[in-house]
Amino acid sequence: MNDEAEKLESPLPRHVAVIMDGNGRWATQHGLPRVAGHRAGVKSARLIVEACAEAQVETLTLFAFSSENWQRPVDEVNALMRLFIEVLQREVATLHKNDVRLRFIGARENLPTILQKRIEDAEHATAANQRMTLVLAVAFGGRWDIVQAARRIAAKVRAGEIDVQDIDDAVVARHLSLAGLGDPDLLIRTGGEKRVSNFLLWDLAYSEIQFSDTLWPDFDRSDLDDAFAFFGSRQRRFGRVGIPKEASVD
Ligand code: FPP
Repeated sequence: MNDEAEKLESPLPRHVAVIMDGNGRWATQHGLPRVAGHRAGVKSARLIVEACAEAQVETLTLFAFSSENWQRPVDEVNALMRLFIEVLQREVATLHKNDVRLRFIGARENLPTILQKRIEDAEHATAANQRMTLVLAVAFGGRWDIVQAARRIAAKVRAGEIDVQDIDDAVVARHLSLAGLGDPDLLIRTGGEKRVSNFLLWDLAYSEIQFSDTLWPDFDRSDLDDAFAFFGSRQRRFGRVGIPKEASVD
């Protein structure tokens, strides 16, 4: 089978998660301030949202700001917060028109009040949309998520609503931020680093992981197609354990 035919036949991931890394390095390479890299990164995010919706991906989760990102220089943090506010103001109507539901995960109480309000409004306005769910992880960390789930479960145990013996994988999953959206099938990390960086620690347990050297502002449709092709090939191997490749009949 040639490459193109293989891409067409490959099963697509239903839930894609992305660590959008490399904005700062992209800006430096272009002799620009770091925030220009983040602005360029918004363009890639828009392109990937459109491409995933077209590919009938059900959920796309983007890591926009981590729990650890608060430790960046205050000017960069402020610029990112302003950028998020601006992006919401500019993009929510288009997302709504395209039947995309927006959800935010993270410690939103730590965000500027105006951003919290925009987040609430965006979630409310798009709540009934069905084509794709776009999850933006802002002030999010995988450890934070597990801790908040543990606290909520513990409170329910104390209130007599859950028996300790009944706490299992499903109960924990129901209290995590992605509850009801299913685990990511595919994680893409751009920017050349090969780590999970405190993203969705519980939810990525069985995800296929594509590490791309492309810096996020340069990430385009062909990079996404590469990631989908990688996912398709991984899935097929998983389904044919023990069958040598040359013995398989396409
Ligand atoms: C990582 O690059 C990127 C971020 C911390 C911010 C990501 C935000 C965007 C791309 C904007 C998209 C926004 C929305 C709302 C979808 P880095 O700064 O760590 O790059 P570096 O590793 O090269 O320094």
